[in-house]
Amino acid sequence: MIRAIRGTRDLLPPDTDLWNRVEAKVRDVFARYNFNEIRTPIFEDTSLFARGVGEDTDIVTKEMFTWEDKGRAASEKSQSLTLRPENTAGVVRAYIEHGLDKQGKLQKLYYIGPQFRRERPQKGRYRQFYQIGAEIIGPPSAGSESPARDAEVIEMLATLLNDLGLRGWALELNSVGGAADRARYNQALRVALKPLVYQMCSDCQRRAETNPLRVLDCKVPEDQPIIEKLPKISAYLDDACREHFAAVRAMLDAVGIPYTINERMVRGLDYYTRTTFEFTHGDLGAQSAVVGGGRYDGLSESLDGPRAPGIGFAIGEDRLILALEAEGVTAAGSLDAYIAPLGAGMNSHALKLARELRRAGVRCDLGDESFRLKKSFEAAKRAGARYIVIVGENEVNSGEFAVKELASGKQETVVREKLKAYLSS
Ligand code: HAM
Repeated sequence: MIRAIRGTRDLLPPDTDLWNRVEAKVRDVFARYNFNEIRTPIFEDTSLFARGVGEDTDIVTKEMFTWEDKGRAASEKSQSLTLRPENTAGVVRAYIEHGLDKQGKLQKLYYIGPQFRRERPQKGRYRQFYQIGAEIIGPPSAGSESPARDAEVIEMLATLLNDLGLRGWALELNSVGGAADRARYNQALRVALKPLVYQMCSDCQRRAETNPLRVLDCKVPEDQPIIEKLPKISAYLDDACREHFAAVRAMLDAVGIPYTINERMVRGLDYYTRTTFEFTHGDLGAQSAVVGGGRYDGLSESLDGPRAPGIGFAIGEDRLILALEAEGVTAAGSLDAYIAPLGAGMNSHALKLARELRRAGVRCDLGDESFRLKKSFEAAKRAGARYIVIVGENEVNSGEFAVKELASGKQETVVREKLKAYLSS
């Protein structure tokens, strides 16, 4: 028997109802903040991620699904391609490729779609997972560097999570400064780590050389006391970055969005500058980050594009669904009615009635005239319908229908014109 590949999963009804409800709410909320959808390819040139996400990140060194695409004709060169591990690099590539900077305005773009990382699968961590992301990017003259944009995306996320009914989220905030600040901080970490790193895990020993900031991501318990005593990034921010971060915090305070500062949160991608943030949820175990995001003021230039500061985030949709389920949030949409034709020649009448009701917005399922009454009731229950409507010769002639509520067994006669209101009450 052929099974789904480890780390991938099938999403089946009724679970997909909740996924659809989340995505409909996302599109509704994002539209209110003037975001428009972008769809980029699922695979890209490998170098986009190597240069965009960063050569020494875990994503690029260990987690990408990469293959050599041979090209079909002799004239076509072979090319290294990669399934996208995230969508920000693709959005910025599209921004550059289509000259969106020339519109001279902020681009507010969102996406919903699968991403791929070869991580060790566990609850909340998959090899194909889904992200809901948004980015604000544009020329500095359009205001893309303003801390108001950071506050806007974070406030939008808080609104979205609240509107979805999620309660147990927490926001962690940090500033990783500009490139120069980070270079100074990395140097300070190198110096501080030098006499200690031999006591740490092999990953930390490597990172202390290549990218000391990544040491802060280490989860090995024995390394934590050492990491806690390392220099803090806040001491290395220049005045402009410090003021920018203070402005973001002041705006969040003004709208009453609670957060904590986590100076160890450096995020797993190298493009971040200044504000970084995560929304976590307490019911998710080890994979507690539901949303990750931040500013990437130099990403466009590192991909040979124009200066185009930006900020954005991605929600892990799989984890958002797990968190909602843990809080008992479910999708409401159930079936209103099961239309049961009774007797030969009744299929057309039942289809006609179902057509009227469906066009009026009633969620209906439809039986078959070959079913006896008992079988129709069983089918209606299995379909999860609230009511069953019998369509027999007498009902069609009189225009009055027997309607039974399946849970209570209560039965009433309802005239055709009132059926819509009755069934959707
Ligand atoms: P990220 O933190 O790598 O950021 O991923 C964002 C979210 O995707 C995570 O918080 C998590 O919820 C979810 N996620 C990541 N990996 C997995 C996985 N293997 N299984 C399930 N869920 C996962 C980014 O991807 C950035 N592009 C976000 C961003 C947009 N920053 C600025 N703009």
